[in-house]
Amino acid sequence: MTAASLEVRGVSVGYGPVRALNSVSVDVPEGAVVAVLGGNGAGKTTLLRAVSRTLRFHGGTIGSGTVSFAGRRLDGLTPAQVVAAGVVQVPEGRQVFARMTVADNLRAGALGAAGGRRAAAEAQARVHELFPVLAQRAHQRAGLLSGGEQQMLAMGRALMARPKLLLLDEPSLGLAPLMADRIAETVREINAQGTSVLLVEQNAAIALRLASSAVVLEVGEVVLAGDADELAASDEVRRRYLGITDDPGHPGAPEGAGAEGVSEGAPHPAAPLRRWSA
Ligand SMILES: Nc1ncnc2c1ncn2[C@@H]1O[C@H](COP(=O)(O)OP(=O)(O)OP(=O)(O)O)[C@@H](O)[C@H]1O
Ligand SMILES: [Mg+2]
Repeated sequence: MTAASLEVRGVSVGYGPVRALNSVSVDVPEGAVVAVLGGNGAGKTTLLRAVSRTLRFHGGTIGSGTVSFAGRRLDGLTPAQVVAAGVVQVPEGRQVFARMTVADNLRAGALGAAGGRRAAAEAQARVHELFPVLAQRAHQRAGLLSGGEQQMLAMGRALMARPKLLLLDEPSLGLAPLMADRIAETVREINAQGTSVLLVEQNAAIALRLASSAVVLEVGEVVLAGDADELAASDEVRRRYLGITDDPGHPGAPEGAGAEGVSEGAPHPAAPLRRWSA
């Protein structure tokens, strides 16, 4: 295990009688971007909540399994302790404090983080460098920002805690393609500066472009896991998550894309993907 890797092992989660995750395992090696794909209700957000220890705010509990970061168990910690350990979640739907200014939203992100005032000032400079618009609009209410700018603010707020691992929940949701691309570019930059990312996305094309590996969740279970390239080439992922239907006889079909991927129920001689049955 590398110094700051996340290890989720056999985690099951329920909301009362509703089973939302069933023995899910996923790794985020230090420095990696790992994507979590899956349709509505698959359990993607629940997985992030299990890591950030925020499940109980939503009526959820971990039934079994372990979550470790940098060799330290996170299960058992409070959400604030998870942040202090370097793991910070950007929630689905941004959840910026709409009536507070952009600057105050960023300040809120530094609360409880290690390092004090000087560290917060450094973090703010980094956030402003990444998202100049947040400096320009520092004194405006966050609720007046566009959707894309609010996503930048939500990410900026998380970065104020100087995370080693960022948990990103559908950052591109509801954004115009150009803005979604900009956000994706920033995720790449954040990662290049040394922050690992666990990226939940319904936009599989974006996710698989950014990530080195990915897992696919279906009804609370990991049904596929592998390198992002391999997943992007698999029939099942192309059909279900990339909206691509290959006509094998089509002259324009990319070479090898139709025949070599994994398809459900079919034998797959060159199967590059592991099916996890934890
Ligand atoms: N607070 C909650 N109380 C009860 N059930 C919940 C709660 N949150 C989620 N669930 C249920 O848990 C399952 C997984 O939901 P989750 O939100 O993790 O899925 P998701 O993959 O993030 O979906 P989406 O793409 O819609 O965001 C679903 O069946 C959902 O209805
Ligand atoms: Mg979700």
